Amino acid sequence: MLKIAVLVSGGGTNLQAIMDAIDAGDIQDAAISVVISNNKNAFALERAAKKGIENICISPKDYESREDFNRAFLEKLEIYQVDLIVLAGFLVVLPGEIITRYENRIINIHPSLIPSFCGKGFYGLKVHEAALLRGVKITGATVHFVDKGTDTGPIILQKAVEVKEGDTPEILQRRVMEEAEWKILPRAIDLIAKGRVSVIDGKVNIKEEI
Ligand code: GAR
Repeated sequence: MLKIAVLVSGGGTNLQAIMDAIDAGDIQDAAISVVISNNKNAFALERAAKKGIENICISPKDYESREDFNRAFLEKLEIYQVDLIVLAGFLVVLPGEIITRYENRIINIHPSLIPSFCGKGFYGLKVHEAALLRGVKITGATVHFVDKGTDTGPIILQKAVEVKEGDTPEILQRRVMEEAEWKILPRAIDLIAKGRVSVIDGKVNIKEEI
């Protein structure tokens, strides 16, 4: 059984997609041990509570320094002994220590086709604003492993989504979530739970289903 920590900052629709996929059997041999938010008002925490999943808030604001927060965060995480950390709209940069300790065991969902519209400053609606400003006709979402860069880790899955005439950032964000994020994030977790994902020379290999 793959034990998962889901890290969130906001609404938690991706968390919901993961919980629903577990319930539906679309993710097998995996369970969420804990949901952690940096923001105590994140609706994602309520979603977890409703499901009876342990949920906690650890906010940098409650610590005197970033180092203190990083230490507390790692200590808290270690209690749950998870196999996989899923960043589902988590807007805090993870401490390097966690990234090293959980190498190739942290995944992130990003709302564009990496390497477009990613990196520092590209998160949430800003990504879709940038895509519309550039006038791309296709956008999408990417699930990738997290390394020490911003959105630079090995790509696990991507899905393209059409940009339509008259799209606003909000409309496009919703379509990217519905058509891509809520599908590829649960799918990636299921593949990892089945032991089908490996990283070779910085690239992801997905084993054929036997
Ligand atoms: C999602 O669109 C996710 O891709 C994005 O934040 C949103 C969270 O929504 N993440 C990033 O932009 C990371 N760079 P949710 O809380 O409803 O899942």
